[in-house]
Amino acid sequence: MTTTPAITPVLEAGVAQARSLLPPMLREQVATLGDELGRICGYQLGLCDADGDPLHGCGGKLVRPAFSLLCSAAAGGSADEVLPAASAIELLHNASLIHDDIMDGDHARRHRPTVWARFGVPLALLAGDALIALGFEVLGGHRHPATASAVADLARTLRHLAIGQEQDLRFEREQGIGIEDSLAMLGGKTGALLACACRMGARHASAPPDWTDRFGRFGMHIGVAFQLVDDDLGIWGDPGVTGKPVGTDLRARKKSAPVVAALQAGTADSARLARLYATPGDLTDTQVTFMADLVEGAGGRTWALAEADRRISAAWDLLDPLDLDLDARRGLVELTTALTTRRY
Ligand code: IPE
Ligand code: IPE
Ligand code: MG
Ligand code: MG
Repeated sequence: MTTTPAITPVLEAGVAQARSLLPPMLREQVATLGDELGRICGYQLGLCDADGDPLHGCGGKLVRPAFSLLCSAAAGGSADEVLPAASAIELLHNASLIHDDIMDGDHARRHRPTVWARFGVPLALLAGDALIALGFEVLGGHRHPATASAVADLARTLRHLAIGQEQDLRFEREQGIGIEDSLAMLGGKTGALLACACRMGARHASAPPDWTDRFGRFGMHIGVAFQLVDDDLGIWGDPGVTGKPVGTDLRARKKSAPVVAALQAGTADSARLARLYATPGDLTDTQVTFMADLVEGAGGRTWALAEADRRISAAWDLLDPLDLDLDARRGLVELTTALTTRRY
């Protein structure tokens, strides 16, 4: 049994190796956290249910470790070499989700109650901290020539992620946020970790520094595209498929990219949307549905999905000049293509 619904075959193929290699490793790592934190972190990772009874598989899509593995293979490396880094990235990703759900006040993720909703905020904060520590421990303990630079990279990445998350919260209250501000925020909160995942691949394959840099910039574009689709799903997704609530970004007046693009479009719908965004107080379900229609009417949805496509193509401009392993390259092409058409 897995905790995730069936996913599209192409995305499934892209993450298949991560799905087989990661869970045993994550299980071993989480076992070092003691009964209580181990159970809570295992729950977040989809390794067990809330009572600690084991589940098979893993809770998330494992997109980031899949990129680490594929980028490593593309640069001529082996899965063994990059696996601890891939695992560290997934641990930090899950820490960021636990903390993000507290910050966003969201009750559901991956079709289950969020960690704070199930175990309370104090334990959720600790579980996030524990996963961050575990990620650095796993990465720092790996005997590999790239370890010191990889640890510094992960720390820098976490700093950028925190800054992006702070902007995400602050932009809820600020007026006049431009599309460049919104894209920079997306780059921090989501692009940074995906960029790091791709750099880890090149780094652990002992690729030249220029390759590591290119893989990082590739991952940044992919991460922004990924978040643009996540923003779309947060407004128009089906919670039965995504496992996450819909409409909460609008309710919180998030300045996600589709919203900012719509606000800046200068149409009558933009003006109506701006008025609703500026009106304080709780919004009704009808108002939230109306806001989604206004974002779409003002062209925000079309713009954001087109920007996601542009990002995927800019990402490939960076890797195309490199002499990559062809099978791994094919896997990366399939995965990046699947990311923009995903519905979960
Ligand atoms: C969710 O990431 C948070 C974002 C950065 C958009 P994922 O969609 O990769 O989450 P899981 O791990 O697959 O649930
Ligand atoms: C994603 O935040 C970025 C991080 C978790 C660091 P969001 O708030 O946009 O993602 P979801 O939609 O809750 O997964
Ligand atoms: Mg969130
Ligand atoms: Mg958030």
